[in-house]
Amino acid sequence: MQATDLWGNAVTGAGPSTVRGLEAATLKLHAYQADPIADIDAVIAEAPDCAMAHAFRAGVLATALDKAFEPEMLRSLEAAEALAPRANDRERGHIAAARRWAEGDYAGAVEGWGRTAIAHPRDGLAVQLAHIGDFALGYSHMLRDRVARALPHWRGAPGEGFILGMHAFGLEESGDYEAAEETGRRALALDRQDGWAAHAVAHVMEMTGRAGEGVSFLRDTASDWAPGSMFAFHNWWHLALFHLDHGNLPEVLRLFDEDISGGNFGQALELVDGSALLWRLHALGHPVGDRWHRLAEGWRARIADGYYAFNDLHAMMVFVGTGDAAAQRELVANVERAAARGSGTNAMMAREVGLPGCLGFAAFGRGDYAEAVAQLLPIRAKANRFGGSHAQRDVFSWTLVEAALRLGDKPLAEAMAAERLAAKPDSPLNLAWARRGAALEARRAA
Ligand SMILES: [Fe+2]
Repeated sequence: MQATDLWGNAVTGAGPSTVRGLEAATLKLHAYQADPIADIDAVIAEAPDCAMAHAFRAGVLATALDKAFEPEMLRSLEAAEALAPRANDRERGHIAAARRWAEGDYAGAVEGWGRTAIAHPRDGLAVQLAHIGDFALGYSHMLRDRVARALPHWRGAPGEGFILGMHAFGLEESGDYEAAEETGRRALALDRQDGWAAHAVAHVMEMTGRAGEGVSFLRDTASDWAPGSMFAFHNWWHLALFHLDHGNLPEVLRLFDEDISGGNFGQALELVDGSALLWRLHALGHPVGDRWHRLAEGWRARIADGYYAFNDLHAMMVFVGTGDAAAQRELVANVERAAARGSGTNAMMAREVGLPGCLGFAAFGRGDYAEAVAQLLPIRAKANRFGGSHAQRDVFSWTLVEAALRLGDKPLAEAMAAERLAAKPDSPLNLAWARRGAALEARRAA
């Protein structure tokens, strides 16, 4: 049994009704609307021999970047592999990519989805899984270029806006802010629900210091992308960053309490954003009350994962926030073990960035600012190797400027402030850091 989807891709083990279900789940995933997994479960219940449905489920669960989903991911992968002999080349490409992910070869998996997207450019799922993978691996230019390869095949196709939204984010991460904003807004004109396109435009405003515009843009568009979204928490995080730049602390905390925590920090991606926000407040010296504890339980359950060093760094932020020295030591030991674990992608991430990052943040937490600087400054050159966006990895610069100020290291504090001001000359936060750097000099002269 074989049918063809809306974009011309052959689907094995499926009749027309199953293919309609797959299409709907794919479009939901493109829009980050809840809940493509529930949709795909319904597809599988109708057509258990549809290899693509199982491969879809495995790919989505893999790229959630949370070991908690691994058992379900493996279950779907094994079901897909059992159907692989009857599947077509495109479907086997998805299955092979998910297998590489399960083996810890995240980079190989992303190349696998990428190759599938080259052979089948109107396979939007392959484009998106490779895109999320490029994000997870910090492949800034591939966030742009891998999507660009598929773009010519999407003109006028259903879902074109979602591919444009992905391209917009890639343009932003590649520093082409003007084209990113234009493309992101074009994507939103095609589909207002596209939370990823809105996210790309928000990133442009974040990177270019347009915090006031960022507040207006996210507020004005939220009624389009927030309802039913499984990604809104991250756009709320961006909104909180804009408010933080302007020193609007009550609004930052309200966003944490009501919006960023909307999913109750049930998955690693949400824990990451909650932790990253509290850490920025903590580093600035703002009390956050008992909010760390809302996150600590989630990270304690993941302390031994050794799954994704980017997550581990965010766990460390929380263990510093709660003052849990034992958890900090345990996490460092686990990250050391992950770093020593052969050729897997996460071993590299842990070695290059995760371990020095965790050691640096722990040192910052106990007031050893010289050690924090020693660990964190060299990471600046290669932080992209453990994934995330420029805006997320800005936490290293943020922490370094504070460490330098507290250490009384005037040249470093001024250098860090100058670096930040060059990108965002009007940022009130950056200007405040520069003033504090200057005050160090005045104090020394006095
Ligand atoms: Fe973001």
